[in-house]
Amino acid sequence: TDQTIHSAFFPGDDQLAPVLMLHGTGGDESDLLPIATFLFPQHPKLGIRGRIRENGANRYFIRHDHGDFDLANLSQETDWLLGAIESESQRLHLDAKRMIVLGFSNGANVAAYAWLHKRPPFRTGILLHPMLIDPASTTANLDDVQAFASFGDVDPLITERNFNQLTQQFTIAGANLTSFKNHQSHRPSQAELAAARNWVQHLT
Ligand code: MLT
Repeated sequence: TDQTIHSAFFPGDDQLAPVLMLHGTGGDESDLLPIATFLFPQHPKLGIRGRIRENGANRYFIRHDHGDFDLANLSQETDWLLGAIESESQRLHLDAKRMIVLGFSNGANVAAYAWLHKRPPFRTGILLHPMLIDPASTTANLDDVQAFASFGDVDPLITERNFNQLTQQFTIAGANLTSFKNHQSHRPSQAELAAARNWVQHLT
């Protein structure tokens, strides 16, 4: 596998928490910049590209043709991503513990998995259209985690049952999770981003 870290850094007010952008399938390290800028205009922003390719599309872990996931690869690639976050944070002098994750779809899924099954440094995040990939129950303690998660009721990829399982796992682990369910599909909507921005403005 490619060991190179493809990242993009967009400086901002370095007193503010850095934003970590994790893209959806087919995205890259900078394609969430418009949404990140809408939500966090002055914050420094870092994007890291997933190193899996699916027919040329960037991803954070392997998805097989029939649509199911490679859980061993998910674990391995999450470890790789957490290592990349650590080394990029050191290189750019960012405090990874203060990072606010902004993940969409595949990027939200890897962030959610990291919280439930690994020990990521970040404690705050916006998960746009996440799903639970690994059904194993969590033993994580997320008492200090604040997250916003969105769901579209006509999203062809994610069932409401799956989304509810994800939010339940977060809540059981102690996270303070706000879910936003809306009549929409998988792509971010204005209503959803307005709700996320309102949530950001009330962060403690
Ligand atoms: C995934 O592969 O993580 C989900 O199917 C969402 C996506 O298409 O990125």
